[in-house]
Amino acid sequence: MNNIKNKAKEIAKPFLKWAGGKTQLINEIEKILPIEITKSKFTYIEPFVGSGAILFWMLNNFPKLEKAVINDINADLINTYKIIASNPKEIISILQNFQDEYHSIDNREEEKKEYYYKKRKLYNLRNTENSTQAALFIFLNRTCFNGLYRVNKNNGYNVPMGSYKKPMICDAGNILAVSEALQKVEILCGDFETTLSYAKNKSLFYLDPPYKPLSETSSFNSYAKDEFNDNEQIRLRDYCNKLDLRGYKWILSNSDVKGKDINDNFFDDLYSEFKIKRVDARRSINVNPDKRGALKELLITNQTYKQEYVRAI
Ligand SMILES: C[S@@+](CC[C@H](N)C(=O)[O-])C[C@H]1O[C@@H](n2cnc3c(N)ncnc32)[C@H](O)[C@@H]1O
Repeated sequence: MNNIKNKAKEIAKPFLKWAGGKTQLINEIEKILPIEITKSKFTYIEPFVGSGAILFWMLNNFPKLEKAVINDINADLINTYKIIASNPKEIISILQNFQDEYHSIDNREEEKKEYYYKKRKLYNLRNTENSTQAALFIFLNRTCFNGLYRVNKNNGYNVPMGSYKKPMICDAGNILAVSEALQKVEILCGDFETTLSYAKNKSLFYLDPPYKPLSETSSFNSYAKDEFNDNEQIRLRDYCNKLDLRGYKWILSNSDVKGKDINDNFFDDLYSEFKIKRVDARRSINVNPDKRGALKELLITNQTYKQEYVRAI
């Protein structure tokens, strides 16, 4: 590990493109972070980690963050986190090889296609070693259409090839930096509710579930083979109630369904006991360019209005 520490000079950032990546929301989240996290040690918990945009930002900016716990139901994603944490050099060497091979056929469209679909097939067999499986996960993420992660009912990854010229597949510096940052992170794979038992006295949760779709057609909710429907949103609210009763602070993001239909009070009713803020957010991944524009999102928190924040509003 020492060797890795010396080499890791970069600041860790998400190693994946991921739908719902939260980079644009950081500014708004910062405004509602409780001031205590700059003063005393705390545990940070992210039950729906995805690409970890907020996780890495927290790890880089809050030295009092003593321990983090991350979780996701996507076992292939979590395997990738675990491999980067435990064996960054091996995954770098596999990715470097993929990158050299892929770049060498950059001008030969048919060969590139064949290469991509062969790798996708291999990934879907899920019978290679964990480190190769993790490298395949990153390779597909970097070369597929729009960085999407979409699986069918049998958990078969089915995104077509993207059209990038020499995409960066092996970002060695960042993988080393991520590996180092993950040394104080406990990595779990399962349902969001399992994270409750990892909370300590001072814990802050950031919850970024699959968003409630704004319409049937805009439904992009298939990160995992099981759908996150309204009943799941309600189960999540119940979980937030539990966290609140135990005295843990939480911040949750979701789509603003009211922006689409003024009479849709789904989240306003569900979280009526808590503070709901409507903020501007631009989606980084949206298949439909019309919808990449000015959307509102919800930031909901169990903190009070009297709370002091990290940054003055
Ligand atoms: C909106 S994404 C999170 C985006 C992430 N915060 C980011 O910045 O990229 C939602 C994540 O929740 C995961 N997920 C879906 N259902 C879940 C469940 N029941 N428990 C835990 N994670 C779940 C998905 O696999 C997906 O990675």
